[in-house]
Amino acid sequence: MILSLGFLASLQAQSPHGAGLKIDCASCHTSAGWEIDVPNWQNNRGAKSRNDTLVFNHNKTDFELTGRHATVDCRGCHENLVFSDAQSDCITCHNDVHQQTVGSDCVRCHTTAHWLVDNITALHQENGFPLLGQHAAADCIDCHHAETLLRFDRIGNDCVNCHMDQYLSTTAPDHKAAGYATACQQCHDLAGDGWLWSSGGANHLFFPLTKGHQIEDCTKCHIGGNFTNVSADCFSCHATDYQASTNPNHVAANFPTDCTACHSTDSGWAANDFKQHDQQYFPIFSGKHEGEWDQCIDCHTVVGNFKEFSCVDCHEHNNASDLADEHRDVSGYQYISKACYSCHPNGGG
Ligand code: HEC
Ligand code: HEC
Ligand code: HEC
Ligand code: HEC
Ligand code: HEC
Ligand code: HEC
Ligand code: HEC
Ligand code: HEC
Ligand code: HEC
Ligand code: HEC
Ligand code: HEC
Ligand code: HEC
Ligand code: HEC
Repeated sequence: MILSLGFLASLQAQSPHGAGLKIDCASCHTSAGWEIDVPNWQNNRGAKSRNDTLVFNHNKTDFELTGRHATVDCRGCHENLVFSDAQSDCITCHNDVHQQTVGSDCVRCHTTAHWLVDNITALHQENGFPLLGQHAAADCIDCHHAETLLRFDRIGNDCVNCHMDQYLSTTAPDHKAAGYATACQQCHDLAGDGWLWSSGGANHLFFPLTKGHQIEDCTKCHIGGNFTNVSADCFSCHATDYQASTNPNHVAANFPTDCTACHSTDSGWAANDFKQHDQQYFPIFSGKHEGEWDQCIDCHTVVGNFKEFSCVDCHEHNNASDLADEHRDVSGYQYISKACYSCHPNGGG
């Protein structure tokens, strides 16, 4: 008893692992000597191997030995052999080759398998700068200009951070002179066919040049080539059209000057958005006639006069028809559109 206690105490005295180690020496050492061959530790998951008595399993500590770490010598990480001194943050053992340009959280981009990074695409997406089109084709160094390609100093996502030179050297139009914003995407949209600064590359999305506004000649709207002082209000350019209208006469009808209440920019000024028709005259975008007509002319059969309308072109009357039946007992029934309208001002429903 005394002997074995003395033996234990002398063992502790020999231990280089510090007083805190609670694990039995025999979990790691055999009678063959203090040295431990790395191969013994390879694939060591705690199972006893053929010849020795290794039972220590590192994966039961707070730091699993994964990837390349599984084959690293204990002393590589536990230089002083006081195991509890080791810290698990990657940066405590690995040099930050990025010089603090991407922070200290290495596992954001790395695993213990190797230092290669395979989430470059996702990284840029997370940074709000998806690498699309020509940006995907560009080399890292075209954007990350640091002296080493392992420094990723902040650039900022704004186009102008990288394209200021182009902005300053524009001539057609001269952006600086015209006072254009340096938020390029306001006019140069990479989502579309973009990737061209000129030849239609500018998008004009703030005022789509589509439908009736698909006009080659910019000066039709930008009078005298003035790009800065144009209003988007329909009336500012179409006042004359409003005043000259006869069918219907907008001035007489006292239509609002907000053209979009009834019109889109579709060529021809069709009033397909004329929702006001329903309350003011006769429900056609709602009620029983919703979807039952194709064109205004189905009712307004006299071109050039919206005061005229016909119901009987659709609702035919003859003795065999339902219509005649429906009105057999209706006194004052006449087969005249104006009469239909006065008895059915809402078209039923
Ligand atoms: C968790 C595993 C583990 C346990 C438990 C452990 N050792 Fe070790 N010990 C090691 C490793 C690893 C080495 C370094 C081996 C090498 O370099 O080949 C080592 C080395 C040693 C050395 C040699 C030191 C040197 O400078 O070369 C001594 C002595 C030693 N251990 C004593 C002990 C004693 C005594 C105990 C029990 C009180 C003990 N060890 C428990 C893993 C362990
Ligand atoms: C790649 C680095 C690395 C290698 C290789 C490594 N360790 Fe560790 N080890 C650590 C880290 C980091 C911790 C601390 C985990 C924690 O508690 O946060 C640790 C913890 C330990 C602990 C527990 C210490 C305590 O008090 O909690 C022991 C015992 C240990 N290691 C033994 C070994 C032995 C034996 C080997 C060789 C087979 C080895 N380690 C190889 C990194 C390593
Ligand atoms: C306790 C120290 C320690 C910690 C903590 C540690 N490592 Fe290691 N790691 C090493 C040692 C030692 C090596 C082997 C020597 C070398 O290659 O630098 C190594 C090797 C590697 C390798 C292989 C390198 C190569 O060239 O093949 C990678 C990758 C790696 N570690 C990534 C990580 C990551 C990621 C973390 C954080 C999750 C981490 N390490 C945490 C010590 C550590
Ligand atoms: C935001 C992502 C990111 C973070 C975070 C990050 N790295 Fe990297 N790291 C990279 C990229 C990208 C490379 C280049 C690898 C490639 O080309 O595949 C790289 C390469 C490396 C290399 C290999 C260097 C060489 O010479 O090839 C090491 C070592 C490395 N990183 C260590 C770290 C360490 C240590 C940390 C934590 C302090 C860390 N990295 C954090 C992105 C990152
Ligand atoms: C067209 C320009 C461009 C190209 C090409 C490009 N990047 Fe980036 N990268 C950026 C921008 C913008 C950011 C956002 C962060 C910032 O403002 O710096 C970024 C961010 C990063 C980050 C840091 C991410 C983080 O979360 O900290 C890494 C790492 C990175 N890029 C690596 C690369 C690598 C590697 C390549 C080549 C394969 C590459 N980049 C190609 C523009 C680019
Ligand atoms: C981090 C730097 C960076 C940022 C930010 C950036 N670009 Fe680029 N861009 C580049 C690089 C590098 C190229 C590759 C062209 C080259 O080789 O010069 C490029 C190419 C282009 C091209 C192709 C035409 C040309 O100049 O070669 C367009 C268009 C373009 N970028 C538009 C934009 C727009 C719009 C934004 C903002 C949404 C933007 N870029 C943000 C770096 C950047
Ligand atoms: C207010 C709208 C607007 C903004 C903002 C804008 N552009 Fe333009 N840009 C245009 C228009 C319009 C064109 C002519 C398109 C065409 O010719 O089809 C153009 C053409 C260009 C051209 C080719 C014409 C030339 O003379 O070289 C380049 C390069 C260019 N822009 C770069 C930029 C850059 C870089 C930014 C941001 C820093 C930017 N633009 C911001 C509207 C804008
Ligand atoms: C149908 C009329 C119309 C046509 C055609 C038109 N624009 Fe515009 N444009 C506008 C309106 C309206 C605005 C102002 C939009 C706003 O302020 O919301 C505008 C604004 C702009 C601006 C922004 C100026 C600034 O300071 O923000 C540029 C640049 C521009 N147009 C360029 C062009 C070019 C180049 C063409 C010919 C390819 C063109 N536009 C054709 C109506 C038009
Ligand atoms: C309350 C609805 C309403 C509003 C608001 C309205 N319109 Fe109309 N507009 C119509 C209707 C209905 C027609 C006839 C549509 C048809 O023939 O299909 C019409 C037709 C036109 C026509 C072609 C008819 C003609 O006689 O030349 C022009 C031009 C026109 N509108 C311009 C305008 C302008 C410009 C504005 C705004 C300043 C405007 N409208 C606002 C309802 C409206
Ligand atoms: C900056 C001036 C400008 C503004 C603002 C503007 N337009 Fe135009 N629009 C034009 C020019 C120029 C044309 C082509 C010449 C013409 O037919 O009057 C045109 C054509 C049209 C046409 C086609 C006319 C046809 O005969 O086929 C419609 C419809 C139209 N615009 C509707 C609108 C509506 C609706 C708005 C408001 C959302 C609007 N426009 C705002 C300048 C403008
Ligand atoms: C199902 C039949 C029907 C359809 C389809 C129809 N309308 Fe009407 N509309 C009427 C009736 C009924 C009146 C009321 C006539 C009255 O009060 O004299 C009316 C009145 C109007 C008036 C007022 C005429 C005035 O000066 O008093 C306008 C303008 C008009 N419609 C435009 C349109 C336009 C534009 C369309 C196509 C978008 C259209 N209508 C489609 C039945 C129709
Ligand atoms: C383009 C053809 C067309 C024109 C023009 C038309 N209608 Fe109709 N109307 C229909 C159709 C189709 C139905 C049947 C809808 C249903 O069964 O839901 C209908 C249904 C009705 C109904 C029966 C609603 C119910 O409760 O079942 C009445 C009433 C009516 N229309 C009155 C009118 C009046 C009044 C006019 C003229 C101002 C008119 N219609 C012009 C196609 C037309
Ligand atoms: C003097 C008033 C009057 C006139 C004129 C009149 N109707 Fe009627 N209409 C009625 C009454 C009342 C009914 C039965 C209503 C009921 O049972 O809800 C009716 C029923 C109908 C129905 C069947 C409605 C249903 O609910 O099934 C239709 C369709 C219809 N009328 C269309 C017309 C058309 C088209 C005209 C013009 C040719 C017309 N009406 C003229 C009063 C009139």
